[in-house]
This record gives sequence, C-alpha cells and structure tokens, in this order.
Amino acid sequence: MENEKGASSSNFKMGNSAQERSLPYVPDCYVVPSSYEPRDALDSKSESVPTIDISRLKGSDDERREVIQELRLACQFFGFFQIVNHGIDQRILDEALAVAKGFFELPAKEKNKFMSNDVYAPVRYSTSLKDGLDKTQFWRIFLKHYAHPLHRWIHLWPQNPPEYREKMGKFCEEVRILSLEIMGAITESLGLGRDYLSSRMNENGLQVMAVNCYPPCPDPKTALGLPPHSDYSCITILLQNLTGLEIFDLTAHGGSGRWVHVPEVKGVLKVHIGDHVEVLSNGLYKSVIHKVTLNEEKTRISLASLHSLGMDDKMSVPCQLVNDENPVRYRESSFNDFLGFLVKNDISQGDRFIDTLRIKY
Ligand code: OGA
Ligand code: NI
Repeated sequence: MENEKGASSSNFKMGNSAQERSLPYVPDCYVVPSSYEPRDALDSKSESVPTIDISRLKGSDDERREVIQELRLACQFFGFFQIVNHGIDQRILDEALAVAKGFFELPAKEKNKFMSNDVYAPVRYSTSLKDGLDKTQFWRIFLKHYAHPLHRWIHLWPQNPPEYREKMGKFCEEVRILSLEIMGAITESLGLGRDYLSSRMNENGLQVMAVNCYPPCPDPKTALGLPPHSDYSCITILLQNLTGLEIFDLTAHGGSGRWVHVPEVKGVLKVHIGDHVEVLSNGLYKSVIHKVTLNEEKTRISLASLHSLGMDDKMSVPCQLVNDENPVRYRESSFNDFLGFLVKNDISQGDRFIDTLRIKY
C-alpha cells in the first residue's frame, strides 16, 4: 500500500478517509495545530462539571426554583451541565447507541447510499467536518438526520440495521420532550417565563441528530475527533458510550480558562448551551466551546441532538433583557443563516457563527 502520510486533506474524502479505512498511522493532514492543545492535562473529577437532578422541575415550587437557580449558574459559568433523573429509560438510551453502532459497522456499500457533503441534505453520511475541504481533517465518521417532526423525516433514515428507525426514533422523541422541558426552565431562569419559546419550538422547531462515530486512532495525541467549536443550536443534548468530550471552562485560572474532561457515567445526559441561547440571553449565558479527543482502543459513539427554532425562524434578543446598561449585543439569525455560514467558513480554523452575530459598540 502506498504510504499517504504526507497526502493532503482532499485525499481523504468520505468513503476513503483514514478513519474509515483504519489506517495504522495518522496522516499529516489530521495532525492538529498545537494551538488546539490536544495534549493538555485534564481534570477528570466529575464534581468539576455541574450536575442537575431535573426530576425536581416537576416537583414543588421550591424544588423548581432550586433547579432554575442551579441551571442559571451552570449556563452562566459553564454553558454546560449534566442531567440525572431525566426520566428516559436506560433501555432506550442503550438501544439508540446500539443501532448507531450497528449502522457504522455496515459494509461501505450500504453506508455510501447516504454519502453527501451537501449541508442542506436532511440525511447524510460524511466524515471529518467538511469532508476533505477543510485544511485539517478530523477522525470522525457521522450520520446526520433531521428528526422533528418525526413522520416527515423517518422514512428517509437508514433501514439498516433493521431496528434503526424504531430505536433511534424512540430516542429522538424522548429527547425532544426533554429539550422542551429544559428550554422552558432556561427561559424561566432568564425571567422570560417558561412558555417564552415553547410554542415556536414545539410547533416548528428543528431537531437535528448528529450520530457520531470515532474509531480507535493509532496516535490519539496528535489528532482530534472534533476541533474546539460551539453548537449553533439553542441546546444540544448528548449521549455517549465512552469519555472523549472536553469542555472549555472560561472562568478557570482567573479567566484564562482550561479544558475539562467530561466523565462518563451511565445514564447521564450532557447538555450544551448553543449559540442561539447565548443570543437569547443577550450574552449572559455562554455557548460552550467543546472538542472531542480520541483513544487507541475503542470506538466511541455519541448521539448529539441539536434543538433549535425552525429553519427560517430568527432568534433575537428579547426586549425584556435590554436596557440602558444592556444594549442588544447580537444580531438576529436563523438555522438557515447558520448553514450559509457553514458553507463559507472553516470551523476547523476556529471560525465561530456566534462571532458573526456580535454587535460591537
Ligand atoms: C457535535 C459534538 C460531541 C461528541 O456533534 O457537535 O460536539 O462527543 N459532538 O461527539
Ligand atoms: Ni458540538
């Protein structure tokens, strides 16, 4: 086999990527710049990441107030929290991870039916971030599909493994209900009331599933599964089978920040605050910067469910959060605007959608 160590990104397009072929070395175009700090020391203590028991949202008024306060702090200082007692059955989580794994284990011919680098496609299989177009490649394989309203999209999803639609569909439905509950609590924590966005998210909100697979990497210290980025969504709810996710804690080290390793505890779901909640809060809440690290032995699977307003529905700063001291800090934008940004920019080089929305005074 010809050695492709020095070959450029375009040699590793989907279907032919190093991670799909399990190359025994990491090609140079996968080696991330040292500014990404893939080798930094990490704090792996679970208590360093906020964990919220959200069953109390359905409890007494006092319990709900307590959760809202915990949520407010987590959103302000981390843009991230873990949730326990979320009410989704462990079996539903396990089965969704299992069908996702099953999909990635199918022969290439089967997966290639969904291969596309059109960011507007409602279902697509691809690799890295933008498949051979970005300067740096990432050790990731993914299937992305729309999930709400389920009946509109499910017939486009893979039929293999045979249980994919049923098991992934069930997971998507449950996670979506959870997302509405969490968004209600978030708008309440901002003083906007729990129904501020609920009808817009419930009726025509989008749910995009990123089903990610990170195969074992022969040199996990040099490459990444995903570069540091924030999600465009309002919130992203994430399920993983193994550790690998790291979040950037902005407040650590007197404001210079540090990467925190997110531990994996069975049944715990992770919630990322996305760019559109940063806008909604007029900058009070921060969309979390996160990245994915790799390991040498095991295949990591993650299901990231991204929840946002409808395709052309604009998120803007609520007038209730604006006064003389707090002018509007962000321009309004929609998911469609984000897709336009994605086509023209390179997230692997640190381009962030939220930066294009900031209003400078
Ligand atoms: C994403 C993402 C994290 C993970 O898909 O946007 O950040 O753990 N995924 O796979
Ligand atoms: Ni992400």
